[in-house]
Amino acid sequence: MRKKMVAGNWKMNKNLHESILLADDIRQAVETLSADRLPAVVLAPAFPFLYPVSQTLRANSQLAVAAQYCHAARSGAFTGEVSVEMIRSTGARYVIIGHSERRMLFGEKEEEINKKIKMVLEAGLHPVLCVGEKLEERKENRHFDAVAHQLNSALENCSPADLQHLIVAYEPVWAIGTGLTASAAQAQEMHVFIRQTIKQKTDDAFANQLMVLYGGSCNPSNAAELFACPDVDGGLIGGASLNAADFVSIIKAAMK
Ligand code: 13P
Repeated sequence: MRKKMVAGNWKMNKNLHESILLADDIRQAVETLSADRLPAVVLAPAFPFLYPVSQTLRANSQLAVAAQYCHAARSGAFTGEVSVEMIRSTGARYVIIGHSERRMLFGEKEEEINKKIKMVLEAGLHPVLCVGEKLEERKENRHFDAVAHQLNSALENCSPADLQHLIVAYEPVWAIGTGLTASAAQAQEMHVFIRQTIKQKTDDAFANQLMVLYGGSCNPSNAAELFACPDVDGGLIGGASLNAADFVSIIKAAMK
């Protein structure tokens, strides 16, 4: 059986003090839950808080930290940017790559996403590759093509061995921060499609163990139904991850 994961993408929210408090509240609540059913719990604070949040969680190996983004180059004259090695040195184990906000608001290109995936894998970290169609693509019934294209371009020239640490998050753009959620049936159907697309690049065993998360207005009221789908392995949570009680109830939904 695949393990589940619940990851909180805090986006550009919470200052240092608030980030540490939130991480600590989540850690304390998680420590009261039964360890055997606990999903992997991942918190993605802003860059300056990766290290302090990582320190706050350190005592608990079930909890880990993710960066929300990275630069594609190893190092160099890229003022304001952050490399994978810098992220690794903070204790973070995951990097979110290709979030739709990076693609749409910051013009992140597919070839950069492909380079970043390779860089993250090479560093021994886990990329959480975000894919998902826009509203017009869904309305025009092009959602499978859009997601296949994103997966194929992001993973171009990656060998099956390279992909061992990959995690995919299906985040339909129309569901992010809108209060609209994919129905359980829509999520399940797309997660199966993602698994099949990855299978073509790897094999059955790999595709069957690949973790595919759902993201987009996932909250304490809809998480259990989404996570009950056989191919939904947990969630990448935005707004509802900023409140410890809500986030913990989503973690509990992944334990059912
Ligand atoms: P919301 O949960 O706020 O819709 O955000 C989802 C998301 O973008 C997570 O990466």
